[in-house]
This record gives sequence, structure tokens and C-alpha cells, in this order.
Amino acid sequence: MFHRLSGLKFLAATALVASFAVPVFAEEAQEAEPQQQDPKKLFANSCSWCHGNFGMKAGKGGPKLAGIAKDEEAIYNTLIKGQGAMPSFKNTLKPEEIRLLARYIKSLPNE
Ligand code: HEC
Repeated sequence: MFHRLSGLKFLAATALVASFAVPVFAEEAQEAEPQQQDPKKLFANSCSWCHGNFGMKAGKGGPKLAGIAKDEEAIYNTLIKGQGAMPSFKNTLKPEEIRLLARYIKSLPNE
């Protein structure tokens, strides 16, 4: 009797934990997306090693990007095609990530 009851309690507890665990995982999965879409993080991962300092100053090989004369569309196309020593990002970044980066570069204050 005692063993059967504790077995049931264990089952009930497991079911309870499982029912809580599922929504928690679902929430984490949803939160991961916008973080990857943060243009500063994208820039830090893909661009900073050449453009340095979030595009505010010239980096190792890459020119300063703040105050760039190109408009968002031209920056987008530059990143799709590549330019000079800079590779194309067509195959390494998603179009929406390139779009975010182009917008981010245009938003940099020109100091
Ligand atoms: C391998 C080094 C390197 C990396 C990585 C790199 N760049 Fe460049 N970038 C350059 C160089 C060099 C130029 C200048 C090319 C030229 O005009 O000859 C340039 C030019 C540019 C231009 C055009 C500037 C202008 O006025 O025409 C933009 C915009 C730009 N980079 C943005 C980015 C972004 C955004 C990333 C990250 C996705 C990135 N770059 C990653 C080296 C790099």
C-alpha cells in the first residue's frame, strides 16, 4: 500500500514538473531569436575585427563607417557583393541581418 501510494505520488510529481518544464523551454527558444538580431552583436561578430569599435573609427583594414555617404540601400548592396578587400556576406549572413546592419551603420553618429 505504502509503496503503491509513493509510486503514484512520484508519477504525479513528475507530471507536474514536466508540465511546467515545457512552457519554460518554449519561452527560452523565443527569446533566443531577438538577441541574434541585435545589430551591435552582429557587427561585433562579423565586422568589428576589420572595422573596429562598432564602426566609429577605422579598424584593422576597414574604414570608419560612421557618417558614411552611402544610403541604406547602397550599404546593403555593398555587403551582398563585397567591396575591395571586404568579402561578400551573401552566404554568411541572412538578408534581414544585412538589412539590420545597413540600418545600424546609417544610425551611427558622425563624430
Ligand atoms: C576582412 C575585413 C572586413 C570585414 C570582416 C568587414 N569589412 Fe567592411 N570593409 C573592409 C574594407 C577593406 C573596406 C573598403 C573596401 C574598398 O572600398 O576597397 C570595407 C568597406 C565597407 C563598407 C563601404 C564603405 C564605403 O564608404 O564605401 C561598408 C558599408 C562596410 N565595409 C560594412 C561592413 C560590415 C557591416 C561588415 C560586417 C558584416 C564588414 N564591413 C566587414 C573590410 C572589412
